Amino acid sequence: MEILRTREELTRWRNAQPEGAVGFVPTMGALHEGHLTLVRAAGARCPSVIASIFVNPTQFGPQEDFARYPRQPEVDADLLASAGCRALFLPTPEIIYPPGHATSIHVEPLGHELCGAFRPTHFQGVATVVAILLNLVRPSAAFFGLKDYQQFTLIRRMVADLVWPYDIVGVPTVREADGLAMSSRNRYLTPEERARAAHLHRALRAAESARIQGTDNAAALEEAARAVLTEGGIVDVDYVAVRHPDDLTPWKGQGAAVILAAVRLGKTRLIDNWWID
Ligand code: PAF
Repeated sequence: MEILRTREELTRWRNAQPEGAVGFVPTMGALHEGHLTLVRAAGARCPSVIASIFVNPTQFGPQEDFARYPRQPEVDADLLASAGCRALFLPTPEIIYPPGHATSIHVEPLGHELCGAFRPTHFQGVATVVAILLNLVRPSAAFFGLKDYQQFTLIRRMVADLVWPYDIVGVPTVREADGLAMSSRNRYLTPEERARAAHLHRALRAAESARIQGTDNAAALEEAARAVLTEGGIVDVDYVAVRHPDDLTPWKGQGAAVILAAVRLGKTRLIDNWWID
């Protein structure tokens, strides 16, 4: 696997790949099975898979975990190579945001809803860095985990609105045996918090059961999920929301829905979602 650190190295690698061959997996590192599933999904579709590792400062708020976000580039590089990645783009902040950088992408109103209501600058940071990475790599397809469903929806919207020729592919969430969605932040949890964390997925499944039993009211489905969170000792809840899966607008009681939640366990913020069909 080639390691590319500058825009020039990346462009040289990119220009040597056949047209239509490149699949891209952008990450912030601290890789787990969920990321490796993205790499394998990219490999199943594209002969040349490139990943990036960049802990993007602009998507962290001032009180968030940017400084302590886990960084393990050597371990990650080995994992990526063993999953079939051909190249790794490993830029510094100066490579992504050279002096004079002044542009930021806002996808509204979605960027300030759900997680965006609690992390007001997060999605403009995500949209901007993903735009830069996509336009540097110029892949045929880019692969994102559906655990970050709001991020996925927002990136798909941005790419459609700006008429960029990249397929945005969502890859299903990989879960631990008890249902907890894999996340680089799970490693922050104490054993006691880790045990409680399983209730996040159970809560979303409770909303699904309520839907199967005929509930067609978003507030009632959200209440079913909140009851399980409370029972499981998850009391610090940013939001639980049932939305339309295409654009995350409020769900009107018919057709498919997605339930999304964000909770805090100690200092760790966890998100998850579940499609209710
Ligand atoms: O999902 C992530 O890891 C990040 O938000 C992304 C898409 C790599 C942008 O920094």
